[in-house]
Amino acid sequence: MADIRVLAEEPSTAGVFRRFWPYLRPHRGIMSAALVASVASTAAVVAIAAAIGQGVDAVTAGDRTRLWWAVALLVGVVLARLVLLRWSEVLLSEAGERAIRGLRDLVVERLARAPLRFIEAHRTGDLLRRSTGEIADLTLFLRDQLPNLLGVGLTVALTTVMLLVYSWLLSLLLIALFLPAAIAVLAWFNRASPATFGRQAAADAAMTATFTESLTAQEALVAPGRPDEWVRRFRADNDELLAANDRALAVQGRLEVFGLLEGLATAALLMLSVWLVRADQLSVGTVVVFVVATRNLFESMLTLSGLAGQAQLARVGLARLVDLLDALPPADPPPASAPDLPPRGDLVAENLRYAYADGADVVCGVSVAFPTGDRASLAGVTGSGKTTLAKLLTGLYEPDVGTVRYGGVDLRTASPEQVRARIVLIPQQVHIISGTLAENLALTPGAPDRAAMQRAVELLGLTEWVARLPGGLDADLGARGERLSAGERQIVGLLRAALVDPSVLVLDEATADLDPEVAGRLETAVDRLRSGRTLIVIAHRPATIERLPRTVRVEAGRLR
Ligand SMILES: Nc1ncnc2c1ncn2[C@@H]1O[C@H](COP(=O)(O)OP(=O)(O)O)[C@@H](O)[C@H]1O
Ligand SMILES: [Mg+2]
Repeated sequence: MADIRVLAEEPSTAGVFRRFWPYLRPHRGIMSAALVASVASTAAVVAIAAAIGQGVDAVTAGDRTRLWWAVALLVGVVLARLVLLRWSEVLLSEAGERAIRGLRDLVVERLARAPLRFIEAHRTGDLLRRSTGEIADLTLFLRDQLPNLLGVGLTVALTTVMLLVYSWLLSLLLIALFLPAAIAVLAWFNRASPATFGRQAAADAAMTATFTESLTAQEALVAPGRPDEWVRRFRADNDELLAANDRALAVQGRLEVFGLLEGLATAALLMLSVWLVRADQLSVGTVVVFVVATRNLFESMLTLSGLAGQAQLARVGLARLVDLLDALPPADPPPASAPDLPPRGDLVAENLRYAYADGADVVCGVSVAFPTGDRASLAGVTGSGKTTLAKLLTGLYEPDVGTVRYGGVDLRTASPEQVRARIVLIPQQVHIISGTLAENLALTPGAPDRAAMQRAVELLGLTEWVARLPGGLDADLGARGERLSAGERQIVGLLRAALVDPSVLVLDEATADLDPEVAGRLETAVDRLRSGRTLIVIAHRPATIERLPRTVRVEAGRLR
């Protein structure tokens, strides 16, 4: 079976930054600049305490000149801080924006090229959440929290260095008294935080996924009269999220102990200072520097730990995003030697096998040939594997075993664009994007113009059908084509096919009872389109089987 990784709901966060780095590498220049600006602005912040200390010493010594110098220093540092802070904020958010924009492009680009099998193997809500929600969370983190985290982390480091320079004795005393306690509180918090915040992120993702899915599947849910089942599912997700949030709040509360430590440290500091000042070991200004800086230090540590929780959340989101990116490697550049597909050719399948899940072949050992210009129906009961076979024949799935050749060329070796140009599948449920008929027809390789669209409409005998749509080619088809019936969607599919001018056309007939008028139009359109092409119709109506000269019967994944 082809290697298609299925994404884990709760990914491992181990080594996530190492795995993420390659995606950030293109932005390393601006990120370094942002970091330098951050360090500079933090240094200015820390220097404010020092300037105040100078001032206090000047006052106690009654030295006017020194006081003026201290005031000038203070003003200078405050102004520098203002400019540097602004500069670092701008650079940091610019770096974040660039990184995010790059990621968003990458995700969309890779999802657009992802093998059909990968997309089908995932909950749509989950992929949506990963490709939009996770990126939104990450944007928020990079824009707001990371700058904070960086600023506060640097403040702690630089303040400690400054205090050591002022009075290593007092600093060491403070460190000896309070660092073990602070570390113990942090360890207590950290012990619980990965599991707690991981659970919170997973619960949040699951809730959003279920919600998104129930929205897109709304019609299918209401139709069988079981919306309550989805409400039940959603409620279970919601309850889990609530419980996860409560737990996160409790773990966050452990950090309140820091407030207590801060008070004790200030008290200890004042008592030690009295003794040290008396012994002429310390100036009053230095004591002020210590009091101001110690408060800063504790505030910073508190903020840091609060941010650590959010950083954990961002880490889980990031891991889910990196999983998605890693699972969808960049499309290999088409080999320079990709063989050209001839304008017309035989379609030959040999010994095809395909399984959606390991060990359960849905197509088992199918060999079948459709010579150029062949007209055949594919028939069999529901679930026999017709649609899967059609996706294999049109190159939308890669077979686990066996080959599909067109004009003698293995589809795997040809460029996907050429395969789409030669072999077209019109699925049972043709996908219509929200917009006009012309916008939907433009969704064809080669960006056809209006004249080409008009010609296709005439070629397929659909002039009257288009004329009856309010607005003709510019008729609004509603949100995802809700104004069209299944048969009419297939008419749009046939028009798209006519614009591509393929050699092989595979039509998976709509199963819904077609109204006779639409059925007639479809028949005419198919008839007009088929000349000179190979036509394979997955037939759901006896009339179709009768009309076509040859029938291939499918039974439990084999040909009969
Ligand atoms: N995306 C999918 N994921 C897993 N199983 C699938 C998927 N699509 C089809 N199957 C299974 O493969 C079998 C063949 O389905 P399909 O090719 O759609 O048959 P048919 O078109 O003849 O009704 C069925 O058992 C179906 O449940
Ligand atoms: Mg089918």
